[in-house]
Amino acid sequence: MRKRLIVANWKMNMLRREAKELAERIINLLNDLRSSVDVVLAPPYTSLDVVYRVVRESKIQLGAQNVFWEAWGAVTGEISPYMLTDIGCKWAIIGHSERRNILRETDIMVQKKIKTSLDAGLTPVFCVGETIGEREKGKTINVIESQIEIGLKDVKLADSANLVIAYEPVWAIGTGNNATPKEIEHLHGVIREITGGILGQIASDIRVLYGGSVNPENIKEILATPNVDGALVGGASLRADSFGKIVQLAGE
Ligand code: 13P
Repeated sequence: MRKRLIVANWKMNMLRREAKELAERIINLLNDLRSSVDVVLAPPYTSLDVVYRVVRESKIQLGAQNVFWEAWGAVTGEISPYMLTDIGCKWAIIGHSERRNILRETDIMVQKKIKTSLDAGLTPVFCVGETIGEREKGKTINVIESQIEIGLKDVKLADSANLVIAYEPVWAIGTGNNATPKEIEHLHGVIREITGGILGQIASDIRVLYGGSVNPENIKEILATPNVDGALVGGASLRADSFGKIVQLAGE
């Protein structure tokens, strides 16, 4: 039985004071958080420490939105996975479509980030998903397959809990559009199958999240199918009431 997981991706939002206040409000709402759902907050790098201080005594865990693929060195402006574990992170979002599209991150970079993060003890939330153009050309499965095959090439996974995959159709992010529950279930099944071809049996226990305009109104429907293990939430995670509601509904 895979435990549900809800990850808040705060993206490039909030100054430290606002991030601290939001984390405090979320903690207050979720202080009786049921152990049937794992919750991760991923603030911007500059707010990691302040949010860590709020969540460290709770069941809520800390994640980063990105990470570099080398441990140390002359790489101006980048952040090592060891710096993230040092600041209290247990998770790192890797290969988000905004980084792939805006910063031209490639599947090989994503693969290196996954490997170095695993070495450092961080759990990657490995994002895959097609653009609207790719979807309209009927290439969704080819795109996802290639992202997973390259992203997980030669990755050694000791435990299924050490990796999470997030399916985020790019056209659903921040748009209010959603894939239908049937499409989501189908694609999550495909993702599990492709992952199984690379990692073997362990893939059946890896959590696969859905992301893209998830909110308190649609979370129940999205989570209702067997291959969906949780959600990666952007906009709706920026308000304590809507994020709290999503977590609460996921825990039911
Ligand atoms: P929205 O929930 O704002 O669509 O963002 C989804 C996302 O990109 C999470 O990583």
